[in-house]
Amino acid sequence: MKLLVLADGAAGAGETRVAAVPDTVKALVKKGLDVVVVRGAGQGSFLSDDAYQAAGATLADSAAEAARDADIVLSVRRPPADVIAALKPGAVVIGQLDPYGPREPIEQIAGQKAVAFAMELMPRITRAQSMDVLSSQANLAGYKAVIDAAATFGRALPMMMTAAGTVPAARAFIMGVGVAGLQAIATARRLGAVVTATDVRRAAAEQVQSLGAKFIMVDAEGEDLETKGGYAKEMSEDYQRRQAALVAEHIKAQDIVITTALIPGRPAPRLITAAMVESMKPGSVIVDLAVERGGNVELSKPGETVVHNGVTILGHLNLAGRLAGNASPLYAKNLTNFLDVIVKDGALAIDWDDEIIQGTALTKDGEIIHPALKG
Ligand code: NAI
Repeated sequence: MKLLVLADGAAGAGETRVAAVPDTVKALVKKGLDVVVVRGAGQGSFLSDDAYQAAGATLADSAAEAARDADIVLSVRRPPADVIAALKPGAVVIGQLDPYGPREPIEQIAGQKAVAFAMELMPRITRAQSMDVLSSQANLAGYKAVIDAAATFGRALPMMMTAAGTVPAARAFIMGVGVAGLQAIATARRLGAVVTATDVRRAAAEQVQSLGAKFIMVDAEGEDLETKGGYAKEMSEDYQRRQAALVAEHIKAQDIVITTALIPGRPAPRLITAAMVESMKPGSVIVDLAVERGGNVELSKPGETVVHNGVTILGHLNLAGRLAGNASPLYAKNLTNFLDVIVKDGALAIDWDDEIIQGTALTKDGEIIHPALKG
């Protein structure tokens, strides 16, 4: 059975990550798969074609050509249209397929009668933790957000007492304490900042405190704030007003703000208005991790750095991709663990009753089958 690893970087869009690394290639070859890697696939992650070959892969010059007889295609993001057009019926595509993004590419995959699995939809169950790409990537993004902020901030983070005077500790505020936010708290603390954090989920309070940061939250006794799956909901207008008042008061004194708030399948909640930015001290830095999904900050721009009233707002895309040397091995391992579920004895064996399959499968037999995407 042939497994093809695409070169996402070649498709443009600045992707640095790759869906298999030499270590996972070795594991896939051991599983009896014939692994083909598009030339240059590992370049953005500091992995040479030679390293893939040494691990047992063969190299392909053209992704679209190699896709024609591929049984499984691994990618970081959606495969390009020419690759999709080459897929044979029954071929399996696995990647971060942006299920809530534009629909046409998913329709195109369905049109090929291929099976698409969107790794972002992995259910949050214990058995699937090792396949959870959102967690493996968000953790790195949370770390990198603080490192980027610290590098941009024209002051130090830790308190320093010197003969010439005391350098005060920087104040960092983390908004949204899921996987990325928790790592951002830990990183900011390690660098010596005084850290506060907020979330709509009450369960986050204990986690924040265990990392040595202070939790602040809207008083919402009795209100229903999260889904059964442990994700945030979209908040009521009244809640949003109270949250805005809390943030407006708190943010004035902050030096570094990292926003990570997301709501699955919805635009990111708007948490920081232009007026709030204007209330901050010049030299402060905001990192909007949600910028790709509409942004938590009114003034942030995808892929750009905006300076407003002396406050710098970083809108880097793909923060995990800026640590591709770590992001790729973790992502590749997530995919390998998922392949363990769908490949048995060197052949595809998809159990359509498995909740991991039902949670992630977008297309099958020419149809879009995921409940969240059905017309
Ligand atoms: P996410 O990336 O979807 O969102 C980031 C954070 O933003 C979340 O904590 C969310 O509550 C918060 N948020 C959303 N709207 C907000 C608003 N208006 N104001 C303030 N904060 C807001 O979250 P992530 O990292 O995916 O984690 C979501 C949940 O899933 C958490 O409970 C986490 O512990 C859990 N989780 C479970 C896993 C498992 O069991 N396999 C793996 C990873 C996470």
